[in-house]
Amino acid sequence: MYRLAPSILSANFAKLGQEVTDVIDSGADIIHFDVMDNHYVPNLTIGPLVCEALRPVTDAIIDVHLMVQPVDRIIPDFAKAGANIISFHPEASNHIDRTIGLIKEQGCKAGLVFNPATPLHYLDHVLDKLDLVLIMSVNPGFGGQTFIPEALNKLRAVRKRIDASGKDIMLEIDGGVKVDNIAEIARAGADTFVAGSAVYQAGKDADPHRYDSIVAAFRAELAKV
Ligand code: DX5
Ligand code: ZN
Repeated sequence: MYRLAPSILSANFAKLGQEVTDVIDSGADIIHFDVMDNHYVPNLTIGPLVCEALRPVTDAIIDVHLMVQPVDRIIPDFAKAGANIISFHPEASNHIDRTIGLIKEQGCKAGLVFNPATPLHYLDHVLDKLDLVLIMSVNPGFGGQTFIPEALNKLRAVRKRIDASGKDIMLEIDGGVKVDNIAEIARAGADTFVAGSAVYQAGKDADPHRYDSIVAAFRAELAKV
């Protein structure tokens, strides 16, 4: 099953609730929530208060992508704010296994995120504890960057490891996902697709159906795989 996860990083922040409900009504599956701290990455976005404000407006899964350092302090706040999945970068945690445990203790699904140059060996001893592996196909910090093709090789490698584990672990891709490359990305093994600018730049007017055609275009590409 393929899941489409629009990133609200590229949404209109002045009407975020509407941006979330409209994209889900158009057939998207998951809300990808990018948290940046101007420390781990050179940009600053949204935190637990915004997650808490969005929680009552949608039943969709809220997929929190933490690009923050340190990580642990903020995890309980996101769990209380209604996050369903919390993912973090291994370089940003001093104790990766502990951080995974903390996310799960708080009742959320746990994900580990790999930057373009981060080796997959961080999976060696924790894969069984994860619910999601997120492969970055851009360097984190900004929307609208170009997909780095090496991410396809990484997806193939992680797909093998997930299949060998026999566990139900989501394999998500984040960065530069467009209608013209999503099929190739799916063939490399991803099942969950973050798309920020491709989705939210597709609908700039007030029509509640403004995201229908872009979501349908992604689905049509995925149907070919
Ligand atoms: C980048 C973020 C992404 C970003 C993707 O650091 O993690 O989720 O919003 O944006 P696009 O799809 O525009 O590359
Ligand atoms: Zn992200």
